[in-house]
Amino acid sequence: MKLLKTLFVLALLAAAAAWALVVTGTYDVAADTPHWPATYRVIEFARTRSVAARAADVVVPDLDDPALLRNGAGNYAAMCVSCHLSPADQEETELSLGLYPRPPRWDALGAVEPRIAFWTIKHGIKASGMPAWGRSMDDRYLWGMVAFLRQLPGMSAERYRAAIAASPGHSHGGGETDIGGGDPHAPQAASAPRSSFEPVDDPMSAPAPAQEHDDHHH
Ligand code: HEC
Repeated sequence: MKLLKTLFVLALLAAAAAWALVVTGTYDVAADTPHWPATYRVIEFARTRSVAARAADVVVPDLDDPALLRNGAGNYAAMCVSCHLSPADQEETELSLGLYPRPPRWDALGAVEPRIAFWTIKHGIKASGMPAWGRSMDDRYLWGMVAFLRQLPGMSAERYRAAIAASPGHSHGGGETDIGGGDPHAPQAASAPRSSFEPVDDPMSAPAPAQEHDDHHH
């Protein structure tokens, strides 16, 4: 009984200490102050387990499909290089330097199991810089990038540039924006030939209906 009471008081004290740490602003959320190594390991373990559990049922398509690869190359160059760099863009960028956790480099991405890579690209990672690309892209375009990632380890800058040049550029069926960091020589989405991936009746490619102004609240 005595032991239980002691444990209870200790638990209360720990909770109060944690609360005080938060309320007084002592906990440092700065991206340039790293976690304690133990905290980092716990978060990393939680992320690995969470993604593995959610990616288990993902069905992987044929990643050697040349059309997937061509499409993935242009999208990688347009959307991922600013953080993950590439064989032809090895210099750190402001984004890649400033983010915490640091984005893994392109060659490390190529070693990630396709299921895990697909899930991560589609859903992103909370409280890191990794966006959820599934918000704006269909699965087949995401798979294009997974297919391309697998080719990256050991790829020369020349082969990388050739792959980007042979790609339809930034294309995922409409809604593409220019976020920079891509290959400046890659064809722009608007002038690029339509990729075989783009559905003929793509709802995203139609101009948005004119917004009606609602003046009733003025
Ligand atoms: C704004 C920066 C940023 C952009 C842009 C970005 N990522 Fe990431 N990405 C990250 C960060 C940061 C992580 C690491 C997250 C973590 O460790 O919790 C990450 C993680 C990943 C991972 C998981 C790696 C692993 O070891 O499991 C994959 C795969 C990935 N990114 C692919 C992509 C692809 C493909 C694109 C382009 C569509 C992209 N990322 C664009 C920042 C970015």
